[in-house]
Amino acid sequence: MEIIKEIERLKKERNAVILAHNYQIPEVQDIADYVGDSLGLSIQASKTEADVIVFCGVHFMAETAKILSPEKKVLLPDPASGCPMADMITADELRKLKAEHPRAAVLCYVNTSAEVKAECDMCCTSANAVGIVADHMKDNKEIIFVPDKYLGTFVAGKTGRNFILWEGYCPTHARIMPEDIQKQKEKYPDAEVLVHPECSPALTAIADKVLSTEGMCRYAAASSKTEFIIATELGILHRMAKDNPGKKFYPASERAICPNMKRTTLEKVLWSLQDLKHEVDVPAEIIVRARKCIDGMLLSQPRH
Ligand code: 13P
Ligand code: SF4
Repeated sequence: MEIIKEIERLKKERNAVILAHNYQIPEVQDIADYVGDSLGLSIQASKTEADVIVFCGVHFMAETAKILSPEKKVLLPDPASGCPMADMITADELRKLKAEHPRAAVLCYVNTSAEVKAECDMCCTSANAVGIVADHMKDNKEIIFVPDKYLGTFVAGKTGRNFILWEGYCPTHARIMPEDIQKQKEKYPDAEVLVHPECSPALTAIADKVLSTEGMCRYAAASSKTEFIIATELGILHRMAKDNPGKKFYPASERAICPNMKRTTLEKVLWSLQDLKHEVDVPAEIIVRARKCIDGMLLSQPRH
């Protein structure tokens, strides 16, 4: 295809790397140099030798890449690709919450703006949230966790710690209902149920495994089972099927589509490389403050 050849050519000319989240559309996943979860993408962004990072994902992910590699140009092919959950808390709201709980440590999900991260002690992804709390926040009696109340509830349950939760949630994962899983289980009784921790507690309670997107890919590849019901955004099914010929993956719900993750197209990737747009920038003072908690996030390996 012409467009793919042109992307490849420009990628070399610009010394660019293309990073894509597991929820991106199949065509975009297929031209990426690396496809993965928020933790894997951050690690790639921190160690790449490219001059330009084309981030096929959503805004907070591109910001995180910029914080980790401030000297590089970070491009978001569609500048309107935001994360509604990240937008559920502002830095002002977090400062107010901190003032109400002055002794609490503050942990944020990576799905937050750079300004919010600048207010936090630690940052985690869905892959390492339990490990961060268990290993790196042992001495904190109370932990403010923002913005995902469902991930927070899951981690609090796993660690037995006292969490102060924010009322945020992912509208895409919230669309998946326990009855969706029950229906699929009736159809595919031998399938293992893999659930993302952004889903509600009613779902994590009936999961065989609760995993980040990368954790799901790794688990499915290693498992001796051949059928899986997947409770997360549908984009991941492309990668799972591609990596595991012979295994079957069924969506828990056809409604689990994140419109923001679908905004990136091959055309937008091409235009982004042609014109070096749309650049994501983070003020230097915010980079310094947010970097501390993001560095901590990279130190903790996933627990699956
Ligand atoms: P992970 O891929 O890190 O599990 O995150 C899921 C998600 O919703 C990203 O926005
Ligand atoms: Fe945000 Fe949910 Fe979309 Fe992930 S799937 S980008 S958490 S809205």
